[in-house]
Amino acid sequence: MRIALDLKNIRNFVSQDELNAYIPALTDAASKLANGTGEGNDFLGWLNLPENYDREEFARIQAAAAKIRSDSKALVVIGIGGSYLGARAVIEFLRSPLYNQLPKETPDIYFVGNNLSADAVNEVITLIGDRDFSINVISKSGTTTEPAVIFRVFKELMYKRYGAEEARRRIYATTDKARGALKTLATAEGYETFVIPDNVGGRYSVLTAVGLLPIACAGIDIEALMQGAQDAMIEMRSPGLDNPAWAYAAARNELFRKGKGIEILACYDPSFRFMAEWWKQLYGESEGKDKTGIFPASVDLTADLHSMGQYIQDGVRNLMETVVHIGRANTTLAVPNDDDNLDGLNFLSGRDLYEVNEQAFLGTLLAHVDGGVPNMVINLPARDEASLGELIYFYELACGLSGYVLGVNPFNQPGVEAYKVNMFALLGKPGYEDKQAALKARLAD
Ligand code: PA5
Repeated sequence: MRIALDLKNIRNFVSQDELNAYIPALTDAASKLANGTGEGNDFLGWLNLPENYDREEFARIQAAAAKIRSDSKALVVIGIGGSYLGARAVIEFLRSPLYNQLPKETPDIYFVGNNLSADAVNEVITLIGDRDFSINVISKSGTTTEPAVIFRVFKELMYKRYGAEEARRRIYATTDKARGALKTLATAEGYETFVIPDNVGGRYSVLTAVGLLPIACAGIDIEALMQGAQDAMIEMRSPGLDNPAWAYAAARNELFRKGKGIEILACYDPSFRFMAEWWKQLYGESEGKDKTGIFPASVDLTADLHSMGQYIQDGVRNLMETVVHIGRANTTLAVPNDDDNLDGLNFLSGRDLYEVNEQAFLGTLLAHVDGGVPNMVINLPARDEASLGELIYFYELACGLSGYVLGVNPFNQPGVEAYKVNMFALLGKPGYEDKQAALKARLAD
């Protein structure tokens, strides 16, 4: 196994006996997943996906990505939530958060349709300029407001720039295999389509075409990513607390029971930032319901030690922390010597920045534990495809287990509908007239 979970820094807070006490609940949760006997069992397609994926479609994804890389300088990826975060997370982690700015052979990738900001959309249109571009519009339902509205904008731009025939060859739709407005449009216009399987929910869909097409466009080896996930799938079938998914689910549930209601995910490399955003959706949407659930938060370290560090060290003691520790950097950078040594840092001269970062990690870990914040550490060997595939599968599996142990359905998201109803009513969608009057009266109060 490439990843390893280290729980020694929760020992002051949770005993081994307390963790062992979760084995019956975890055995039950694992059986619900394996046998499809738990709530939400129509959304378990992710469980065996690394093995049971559609090879023909996978080859079409690789071919489409090769075409986009050859005929486009920019790719516009339109989607929100589970139809957005995974692709961005993988690209930033494996390539760079500065991916678009760095010299490369692959197209710039712009993520839109994840907000309703006119300024943000217009900035992307400016950045594309007169460069050749393609669009990947991603929506399982095909009716989500944000991507649907923004797709209208880029579709119009595309048709004006290229004419209908070429525009149709530059638009790729990732959606339901048969239903929804986007599927209907894609069929009518003849866009190449990719399928979001019925039994895979948005937040578990990064290893479907949802994530894989943009990821492949960025030049990432999606076969190696799937192989890492498949390795994890096989290794993490074993029962018991030696299985990191089981151990993580047990530890965080026990810490939650002891009053640690917030889990902070931390990493000492800024490339992880959107992996943390992806994780927040995965765990927040899966567990935050029925008036329970750990609140997932994240920090970028060491940057946030200079902002949130004070609170983590010394604020309300309702925090647990998980650090994703990356085993090596991809490059080296020695600290220069300075003859004047005005900053007093010549004791670091010649030492690699990775080593400095390591001591920041270790020092912070101990300080936070001393301050009452239990720390779990997930060791990841490197920023490479196979390790990340394994980490993604680990998080998905642990989330399913953890949700069932917590006693919720980890595969629905009833709470996300409330804002949509109000937004439609306020925007005057036909059928929402009564609701609109009631909301306007409240706003005018
Ligand atoms: O996890 C989820 O279900 C959500 O985040 C959805 O992925 C998000 O709302 C986008 O939905 P859709 O793909 O239907 O446009």
